[in-house]
Amino acid sequence: MKKGFIFDLDGVIVDTAKYHYLAWKNLANELGFEFTKEQNELFKGVSRKRCLEILLEIGKVEATQEQFDTWMIEKNVDYLKYIENMDASEILPDVPKILDYLKERKHPIALGSASKNAQPILEKVGLLSYFDAIVDGNNVTKAKPDPEVFLLAAEQLGVNSQDCVVFEDAVAGVQAANSAKMISIGIGDDKVLSEAAYNFNDFTEIETSFIQDLINKN
Ligand code: BG6
Ligand code: MG
Repeated sequence: MKKGFIFDLDGVIVDTAKYHYLAWKNLANELGFEFTKEQNELFKGVSRKRCLEILLEIGKVEATQEQFDTWMIEKNVDYLKYIENMDASEILPDVPKILDYLKERKHPIALGSASKNAQPILEKVGLLSYFDAIVDGNNVTKAKPDPEVFLLAAEQLGVNSQDCVVFEDAVAGVQAANSAKMISIGIGDDKVLSEAAYNFNDFTEIETSFIQDLINKN
């Protein structure tokens, strides 16, 4: 049985967290409060709706449903302006090295992301063709740490969940992979992502021999 490989998008394949941050910060400033980079950590892997709920809690802002919906749209329109000119230069270092290694060996590859903007971003950076399945914020009903996004990705790849490897930069994402009984690989701070089965700061630290060991693993 071939192993399946599932990649989160934001913070794993591309560094879009900075653009999400700027768009949320602009909205916070407009509403009259500050939003820090540290607070932005809470937003990793979290759905757009939940991010706005947290943002309004931080700013102690009460919103009507109509305002809430307007601000969700406003943030996304702003975010889309930041990502409009994204290109291959924004792919995180050595991500293509791993994607190529897997593709050459015909291992199925999926995207498992909370973002509703995943597909256009993959297109802009020229990586769309690597993916055999894309499961994103448009396809799931339950957000990470629920395993739904990764279980759906495994199903679309036709691979058992125990035979899947997940690359994640968010705590909620690592938890989702673990509860799907997949092999979780934390990309980022190992203290933050201590629940992951393996930890790396980024893909430059991942040797193809490590990937091959995962492929050979029973
Ligand atoms: C996740 C990001 O991948 O997608 C979150 O880590 C973001 O920060 C979420 O809120 C939803 O993204 P989007 O593009 O649908 O607003
Ligand atoms: Mg992420």
